[in-house]
Order: sequence, then C-alpha cells, then structure tokens
Amino acid sequence: MIYEYLFSPISVKGLYFKNRIVMPPMATNFGIVTQQSIAYYVKRALGGVGTIIVEGTPTHLFHSKKFQDRLKFLTDGIHKGGANVFIQLTIKSNPQPRRDVTDIPIDEIKSLIDDFVYAGKVSLEAGFDGVEPHGAHGFIMNQFFSPIFNRRNDEYGGDVYKRMRFALDVIKGLKSIANNRFLILYRHTPVEWRDGGYSLGDTILFGRELKKEGLDILDISPSTAPGSYDYGALAKEVKRQVDIPVIMVGKMYVPDLADDRIRNGYADFVAIGRTLLSDPFLPKKIQDGKFNLVDSCRQCNIMCHGYLRRKIPISCIVNPSVGKEFLERGRWSRELR
Ligand SMILES: Cc1cc2nc3c(=O)[nH]c(=O)nc-3n(C[C@H](O)[C@H](O)[C@H](O)COP(=O)(O)O)c2cc1C
Repeated sequence: MIYEYLFSPISVKGLYFKNRIVMPPMATNFGIVTQQSIAYYVKRALGGVGTIIVEGTPTHLFHSKKFQDRLKFLTDGIHKGGANVFIQLTIKSNPQPRRDVTDIPIDEIKSLIDDFVYAGKVSLEAGFDGVEPHGAHGFIMNQFFSPIFNRRNDEYGGDVYKRMRFALDVIKGLKSIANNRFLILYRHTPVEWRDGGYSLGDTILFGRELKKEGLDILDISPSTAPGSYDYGALAKEVKRQVDIPVIMVGKMYVPDLADDRIRNGYADFVAIGRTLLSDPFLPKKIQDGKFNLVDSCRQCNIMCHGYLRRKIPISCIVNPSVGKEFLERGRWSRELR
C-alpha cells in the first residue's frame, strides 16, 4: 500500500479511526444543520476522510429543540459516508464582537462552562463521536490562557495554572457526561507569537493538565489560515512532552509529507482543511495513487476565508460547487469509481 502510515487505522480510547486524515473545523455560513450543510459534509465523508470535525458551533445553539433534532441528520449522514464525526464548540459571539476576558464576571464564566457541558450532552445524544472546545486562534477561550489578554486576579487569571483553569473546568465538565467511546478533544494554539505571550513551555504544562482531566486528543493549530507552513516541529514537541495523541495541521495535503509526519511520530493525525474544499475526494485519490488528479487548493483564501470575513457562505475558486452539493445528488458516483 502507498502511504501506509497515513492510511493505517488507529483506535483512541476504544474509538476506531479508519485512517489518519482529519477534516478540521471550517466555518461555512451554511447553517450547520441545513440541507446545504449536511450535503457538503456528507460529500467529504464519501471522499474518504477518516474524521470530520464539524465547524465551530456556538454552544447557545444547542439549546434549540429544532437544532437538536436536526443534528442527528448530520451525524447519520457523515457516519454512513464512512467517517467519524466530532463537532467544535465555541462561545457565543465568538469570534465577533470580542469580549475582554478580564471583564467577564465569575457567574457568567460558570454559565459559559455549563453551556459547554450542555452542548456536549446534546452532541452525545445526537450521535457525535465527541466534541472539541475551540481554545485556539486568539478567540475567547484562548484569551483566558494568554498573559496578554487575561489580566484577572481571581481563580481564572494570574499564573499559568490559573489561566488554564477555564479550559480545565470545561474539559472536566465534558468528561463527567462522556461515556468511554465519546472523546473529548481540545484545539489549542501552541505559541502566542507576540511579545509577552505564552510559550511552548506553557503549552506543555497546559497539555499535561488537560491530560490529567482526561483529554483524549490535542488538536494543535497555530492559526486560522496559516498558508502553506509546516508546523510539524511544534506538534512533535507537544506530542513527545505531553504524551497524548495529537492532530497537526499545515501543508498536509502533500501526501509524502503527511505520511512522513505520522511515520516519524510528529502527530497521530493530520488535518487537511482547504484542500478538502477544493477536492472532497482528496483522500480516496491519494489512496488510489491518483494524486495527480487532485484539484489542489491555491491557498488564495478568496472564497473561503475572504467570504467568511464578509459574512457570506463560503465557496472555492478551484471548486465553485462548494456549498451547492445539495443540488448534486447522484452525480458523485463518477468520482467514487
Ligand atoms: C473558511 C475557513 C474557516 C475556518 N473556520 C475554522 C473554525 O471554525 N474553527 C477552527 O478552529 N479553525 C477554523 N479554520 C482553520 C482550519 O481549521 C485550518 O486550521 C486551516 O485552514 C489550516 O489548514 P489548511 O492549510 O489545511 O487549510 C478555518 C479555515 C478556513 C479556511
């Protein structure tokens, strides 16, 4: 088999993953549980990706009965397509307008934590294989860990251990409702990249505490759209020093590199984002030795990130059928042959 490491199965805490390729959370503005959204995700599952992490979803949405009922269509569709499915949980009004974490009253912090746990419970009942709180990319949860943004002087701010407390409480709460096949992931940016920001050493301490709370997989993501950098060295250090399964991201659409990262212990999983927009069948094409037929992402960010910034549904300059999958029923069989 070519790329035998990339396509080798693995089990984490009893959950089977058919390969190491993960579709990372990518906001779409398709509505998460709409027909448009479900068809978009199911097409990617049929394309051979082992795991889909559904885009950042604000926890307050999980209180709606209609939303709860429709989640099952999403999980069923993705499972039938052959992939595991997780959902990323975010905080209401994330990313905009940004709140200053220093000013959030303790009562509100407790209710934010309760919302994560409630969203976890709903996700478990809806058939997800697990959830991923979004602690990366400078958003609110990440700001709690930042010595620059978090200037609190209570149990949620101060030294590095107090700054990790918010995330630890969320993970602890989620673990209390999880069964042993429902995994808890956490997305984290390993270094703050600013003067006075947190370091890789802080991240290692954080990772060890997350692990003590029962975290199953750490998803290491340097930034929202890192272009074509390879962040393997950071992921490897976290994996080695925290000793936990790790997802890495960045340039992983290059199969030789992705396979090498798994083989040489940089990460247990590789996330491929934008190239799964430009070509949903990328994993199958790689596995079938047809990488030359992949419609590669041009890293232009025009219709994905650019549209997101303009608050309109995303698409892709290479593959304008992104977001129109629900109109295509039946046409995918050609790709699957
Ligand atoms: C349109 C778009 C939306 C994204 N939305 C999210 C998100 O909701 N949560 C998140 O953690 N990362 C988000 N990201 C970052 C991706 O998960 C991924 O880390 C990034 O695209 C780098 O991977 P790539 O180079 O393979 O595309 C988004 C990226 C794009 C392009």
